[in-house]
Amino acid sequence: MYTKEVKALKKSNRYRKIELFDDSLIDFASNDYLGLSEDKELLSLAYKRVKSTKYHSPRASQLVNGYHKIHKEFEEYLSDINGFEDTIVVGSGYLANIALIESLVRRGDILILDEDYHASGVMASKLITSEVVYFSHNNADSLKNILDEKKYNRAIVCVEGIYSMGGDILNQEIFTVCDKSDTLLVVDEAHSSGVLGDNLLGVYDYFNIKIKENHIKMATLGKAIGSYGAYIQASSHIIDYLTNRAKSIIYSTAPSVFDIALADENYKYIEKNTALLKNKIIQNLKIANDIFNIDQKTLILKINIDDNKKAIMLKEWAKNQGFLIGAIRPPTVKSSILRIIMRTNIDKNILKEFLSSLDDRLHRNTK
Ligand SMILES: Cc1ncc(COP(=O)(O)O)c(C=O)c1O
Repeated sequence: MYTKEVKALKKSNRYRKIELFDDSLIDFASNDYLGLSEDKELLSLAYKRVKSTKYHSPRASQLVNGYHKIHKEFEEYLSDINGFEDTIVVGSGYLANIALIESLVRRGDILILDEDYHASGVMASKLITSEVVYFSHNNADSLKNILDEKKYNRAIVCVEGIYSMGGDILNQEIFTVCDKSDTLLVVDEAHSSGVLGDNLLGVYDYFNIKIKENHIKMATLGKAIGSYGAYIQASSHIIDYLTNRAKSIIYSTAPSVFDIALADENYKYIEKNTALLKNKIIQNLKIANDIFNIDQKTLILKINIDDNKKAIMLKEWAKNQGFLIGAIRPPTVKSSILRIIMRTNIDKNILKEFLSSLDDRLHRNTK
C-alpha cells in the first residue's frame, strides 16, 4: 500500500533503514558522548540498587502507583545539583517535549520555536491550536522582533542547549531577551547535559545562569548520561501544573525504574569525575580544531556535504576504514551533513588518525 512512497524515498537517496552494526566498528556516530553505555561497573551498581527494592518495574503511571523511591531520589538529586525548585522524570525526551508544549501553550498564548528545534517539539506544536512561530536559528534579534510584534497572553520559547545536528551552543542573549520580557524559556538540554559547563550540567551551567521562574530545563538520559528517559525542571508550580495537565505524563507508564537507577549512578560518576571528563573533551576539541582549522566548541562535529549520495558514500568509506559516523540527510537537516561524535572514551590518537584521513578524503573529493 505504500510501495510508491518507499520507492520515491529510495530514488531521492532519503531512504533509511534500521541496521545492526558490527560492534567492532569504532563508534563516532552515537550520542553516548562519554562512553558510559560501555561501563559495566556502573551497570552493576544500578542493578544491585534496583534488585534491593521490592518492585523493579514501574507498573503504572506516576499518578497511579508507578512512582518509585528511585524516581524520587533521582528527582531530588537533580533539583539539588541544577538549582531548580522541582523536577519530574518522564519516559523519554520525545514525551517530555510533548508534555511541555501540549500543556503549557494555552489559548491566547504563542509558541515560538527556534527553526532548528527538535522534531519532537515540532510534532508537539501540531497538537495545539495557538499560534506557532519560528525564529531564525539562534538569533536573539529575530526572537525579540517576534516578541515585540505579536500579541499574546503568554509566550513560550523553545531552544536547545547544544543543537543536535549543528553542534552549536545556545546564544546566551536568548536568556537575556526572555528574562527581560518575562517569557517562558524551555531549554532542551538533550545534547548539552553531561558535556557542557563547569560542572558538565549543561548550558545553564555553561553560562552560569541564575535560575529564574521563567526558566525550564528538559534533559534526556539516553545520550551523555548513558541510560534512557528524560526529566523536566522548573519552579514547583509549573511541575505541579504539568503533573495535572501533561497527558504524556499522566497517561503513560512511569519511567523505567532500572533506567533511572542507571542514570543516577552515571550522573554521580560524572559529578565525581568532572575534571577528568572535561579534560578529555578539551583534548578532543583541540584535535578537531587543529585538523580542520575551525573553532569547534562541542563534541558534535558537523561537516557540510550538501549532496545526499556523497554523504552516504563518505559514511560507507568510513565504515570500510572501521569507523561509524552519521550521514544525516533531509528532512532531519536542510541539506546533508556528516555528523561525527568525538566520544571521549575513544583513544585520542584514533580520533586524530580518523579525522586526518577524513580531511584528506574530503580534499581529494573536492579536487
Ligand atoms: C534535541 C533533542 N530533543 C529531544 C530528543 C528526544 O529524546 P528521546 O530520545 O529521549 O526521546 C532528542 C533525540 O533523541 C533530541 O536530539
